[in-house]
Amino acid sequence: MDDTKIALVTGANKGIGFEVARLLGRAGVTVLLGARDPGRGAEAAERLRADGLPATPVRLDVTDPASVTEAAKRIEDGYGRLDILVNNAGIMTGWGRPSELSVDDLRQAYETNVFGVVAVTNAMLPLLRRGSAARIVNVSSSMGSLTRMAAPESGIPMMTYSSSKAALNGLTVAYAAELREADIKVNSADPGYCATDLNQHTGPRDPADGAAVVVRLALLDPDGPSGTFEGDTGPVPW
Ligand SMILES: NC(=O)c1ccc[n+]([C@@H]2O[C@H](COP(=O)([O-])OP(=O)(O)OC[C@H]3O[C@@H](n4cnc5c(N)ncnc54)[C@H](OP(=O)(O)O)[C@@H]3O)[C@@H](O)[C@H]2O)c1
Repeated sequence: MDDTKIALVTGANKGIGFEVARLLGRAGVTVLLGARDPGRGAEAAERLRADGLPATPVRLDVTDPASVTEAAKRIEDGYGRLDILVNNAGIMTGWGRPSELSVDDLRQAYETNVFGVVAVTNAMLPLLRRGSAARIVNVSSSMGSLTRMAAPESGIPMMTYSSSKAALNGLTVAYAAELREADIKVNSADPGYCATDLNQHTGPRDPADGAAVVVRLALLDPDGPSGTFEGDTGPVPW
């Protein structure tokens, strides 16, 4: 088997996902850039290729089951396996106090941030099982830390986004437990508060800095951890 690693990054056409793709490319990984808009995906892949990095766009809307199936088939036909899956695609919706939010507000956030991750992970698992010591990284947030949400100084949590990321962390722990025997490590990453479209560029960090912890977990050594939640400086409290 060719030992060049193959990675799929969802929502890789911009922001932290794009920087994850760039860093993985620099580490010698062949990167498949998941993007729901084919034009934006092609443009992002072209930017990486212009820098000499091997990148290919894959149309992938994580909320669209047909698109997820099609992406898995394309990867199967083209590469036959996957070594790294970065579940990065995410949205921040549903502002307001918990009592002002509707079930639909939560459903919308969960469709992408939680259900989309399950759909993509389950579709890619047969390919990841064929990969060499595969890694799955779920891009979470410290806003999904229940410990931080419960701290009095945190005020009222942003219920839609925060609870969706707490649920995502639950997925990390569950998949890590199931996949331990398959030697597939599954971890949550907290990129920190980065300037991206998600937050109208209010974050103080560069998205490339946020991408670093994601890439570290994507390239973990065999003795690295699984079922953890990590940021730049180490573990983030659940
Ligand atoms: N920025 C921060 O401070 C911060 C902090 C902690 C965690 N995070 C997490 O980091 C991840 C990346 O966020 P970001 O800050 O880089 O935001 P961003 O710049 O808005 O990028 C989000 C990416 O997700 C894609 N996406 C959204 N819905 C999708 C769907 N249904 N299917 C496929 N792709 C979809 C977007 O595609 P389009 O271009 O088509 O919209 C875009 O590529 C998210 O999971 C976010 O929750 C961000």
